[in-house]
Amino acid sequence: MAKARTVYTCQSCGYQSPKWMGRCPDCNQWGSLVEEKMFVKKEASPYPSQGGLPQPITSLETKEEDRFKTGIRELDRVLGGGIVKGSAILIGGDPGIGKSTLLLQAMARLANSGIKVLYVSGEESPKQTKIRSERLGVTSENLYIYAENMLERISDSIKQLKPDVAVIDSIQTVYTQALESSPGSVSQVRETSFQLIFNAKAMDMPILLVGHVTKDGSIAGPRVLEHMVDTVLYFEGDRGHSFRILRAVKNRYGSVMEIGVFEMRDKGLEEVTNPSALFLAERPQNASGSVVVSSLEGTRPILVEIQSLVCPTVFGIPKRTVLGIDYNRVSLLVAVLEKKGGLNIVNHDIFVKVTGGIRLEEPAIDLGVIASLASNFLDKPILQKTVVFGEVGLAGEVRGISQAESRINEAEKLGFDRCILPKDNLSKLSGLKNKKSLNMVGVSSVREAMDVLF
Ligand code: TYD
Ligand code: MG
Repeated sequence: MAKARTVYTCQSCGYQSPKWMGRCPDCNQWGSLVEEKMFVKKEASPYPSQGGLPQPITSLETKEEDRFKTGIRELDRVLGGGIVKGSAILIGGDPGIGKSTLLLQAMARLANSGIKVLYVSGEESPKQTKIRSERLGVTSENLYIYAENMLERISDSIKQLKPDVAVIDSIQTVYTQALESSPGSVSQVRETSFQLIFNAKAMDMPILLVGHVTKDGSIAGPRVLEHMVDTVLYFEGDRGHSFRILRAVKNRYGSVMEIGVFEMRDKGLEEVTNPSALFLAERPQNASGSVVVSSLEGTRPILVEIQSLVCPTVFGIPKRTVLGIDYNRVSLLVAVLEKKGGLNIVNHDIFVKVTGGIRLEEPAIDLGVIASLASNFLDKPILQKTVVFGEVGLAGEVRGISQAESRINEAEKLGFDRCILPKDNLSKLSGLKNKKSLNMVGVSSVREAMDVLF
């Protein structure tokens, strides 16, 4: 008979301890240790071998990875060109963001091209999935729906059906009998995903796991899951907006920081092939504080609008509210604008927002933030068809950024006629100057940028 053992597992990082503690010593989370009973088998059977013996690397054969193309280009690109055979992919995102919708659409497309797909739904009954597929207008004989939560039964069905691709929606609903803890706990997630991934790799079958995101925005048991899989995708977006962004945060088979843009319609998700146009669609005319910046998302430059409001502080300490950009970056740029741009802005309430709910992480947006703050502070709108990019240093200098040319091309494509960019970039692009319809202005400092803009 198996013996039960009690451990306390941190639900945030997976740390285990024989006794309860108020705070996890590993990730410093309070109150995250939960009692879990584990059955220890008397004779633990080893995990099956991955096969093979040590061999010199020179004797290993390589071939281009086999990929299943879903035909949804935004998804394929984020994956690095399709689903690699034998890979494990984790898709995380808030509840209701559209993970199941995206996967069902992608899987139905695969199935229609003759690939056998097993879609295990631990959250919805087959009927519900069917209703969803009808709504999405997708169906296929090769798409198998299985509503099950028990790992052992899922594994059996995979072995019997031998699908080419399997989806587990979601990993938090799967449990194994070997552990007594409830589904969704870190030990269950760790054990069940390990087993599923291991078996999938042995069969050279790609497996897609859906993972729920906890309140603080990470996939439950994040460290536990993320190192086990080959690719981690996050599906994000604002509930208030219809578009969704699929972001790769780890990819063993492609570039990270690549994004795919989708729009949630009444008939499911649709690809957005020109995201800049979408993000700029509702831009106000001649509003001070509104600036278009160019941010590189993966291999694509995307034009996005940044808006600011600078108001006198009425009471006490100035307030800063930032949406879509790192708070510290904005604080730093405010200080630069005060000291090097000569604006008395520090003791004002400052609100900065990236419209459309997208998050910008790139330093190339620095100059745009500065321009936007200054524009609202001075109450002078920036010319509507101007795009601004460049990194700003603490000395007030404007530094060169990567891929200026592709940013300029994107701006030109969308009808912009002026581009403020770092001098350093402009000097390298001198050959381009006569060929472009847009006017390129190089600046080397914040002061210079202000002179050009206002
Ligand atoms: P869903 O894929 O169930 O989210 P997740 O699996 O990430 O929890 O998405 C559900 C949401 O998407 C729901 O709020 C309704 C909306 N939706 C549409 O707007 N159009 C559609 O065609 C579908 C299927 C869902
Ligand atoms: Mg779902």
